[in-house]
Amino acid sequence: MTFQPSKVYVQDVLDKVIVGDSWTIAKTLPDDFVQCVVTSPPYFGHREYSTKSSEEEFGRENSPLTYVEKLVGLFEELKRVLKVDGTVWLNLGDTYRDGQLLGIPWRVALALQDSGWLLRSEIIWHKPNAMPSSVKNRPTIDHETIFLFAKSANYYYDADAIREPHVTFTEDSKMKGGRNHLGKRDGTPEKGKNQGNSNLHNGRWDQAFHPLGRNKRTVWSIPLGKFREAHFAVFPPQLAETCILAGTGKRDVVLDPFMGSGTTAIIAREWGRYFVGLELVPEYAEMTMKRVSETQPRLI
Ligand SMILES: C[S@@+](CC[C@H](N)C(=O)[O-])C[C@H]1O[C@@H](n2cnc3c(N)ncnc32)[C@H](O)[C@@H]1O
Repeated sequence: MTFQPSKVYVQDVLDKVIVGDSWTIAKTLPDDFVQCVVTSPPYFGHREYSTKSSEEEFGRENSPLTYVEKLVGLFEELKRVLKVDGTVWLNLGDTYRDGQLLGIPWRVALALQDSGWLLRSEIIWHKPNAMPSSVKNRPTIDHETIFLFAKSANYYYDADAIREPHVTFTEDSKMKGGRNHLGKRDGTPEKGKNQGNSNLHNGRWDQAFHPLGRNKRTVWSIPLGKFREAHFAVFPPQLAETCILAGTGKRDVVLDPFMGSGTTAIIAREWGRYFVGLELVPEYAEMTMKRVSETQPRLI
């Protein structure tokens, strides 16, 4: 769908990728209809996505400051588009210049915080299959950052949808007393022989025995995705899935202002959410729509 510079209605953009500069397009989107933004902008100074020299393309600015300012401007517009209880999951990597790290993810995070976003979490995306590197005077980087921002203190977050396996007590654990309480709130020592033992209050029950697992941690170990048609780093489906399941319910709208090959769209579609994509390069927008047309919603 080619961008027409006028106000658009929600129905016009649902399950579509709009081609053009995301900041320009964002200004035309309706207020208050997106539940969650899941995105990975081009990293500062890493690579060129468009073959044209493009002033609009993110990541090609002359300085980190301009890069940060552009992202803050875009997210200011997205704040209007986001519902009051909406969230942003922003994946960023860093850049080396003149022999040192620029600290780009945190420059962006602090600038967004200064512009009114609530910074709720710093998540480390650990990449167990990260490319080896030849450096010998510093550790090889095998992580990127994902920031969780909220528009307001009372935001939608489905912790149960993304719980992870317990490690303290498991079905196989040898630790005395633990296994019997797995998944059984009334079976905890709060009611048994240790009644009154405040050590095992509800918070700890949640951490150690909740039937769906423990609350999600801030280090996510997810291998890099493989999608050969895209000649750039794409989201691993599991990463987009974790953000979308925590950030939305069924039939909510997920927005990705840097849609690329369309991972966010595919996962949204699979889980019965709507998506809206913005993408500068028409070929990538086509790639997304083709992949979406081949995606079946899960039976949930
Ligand atoms: C890191 S890729 C996104 C990859 C995506 N998460 C995936 O799984 O395929 C960043 C994308 O942002 C697009 N982009 C760069 N500048 C843009 C702009 N001003 N407006 C919209 N898209 C832009 C690039 O063309 C590229 O497709």
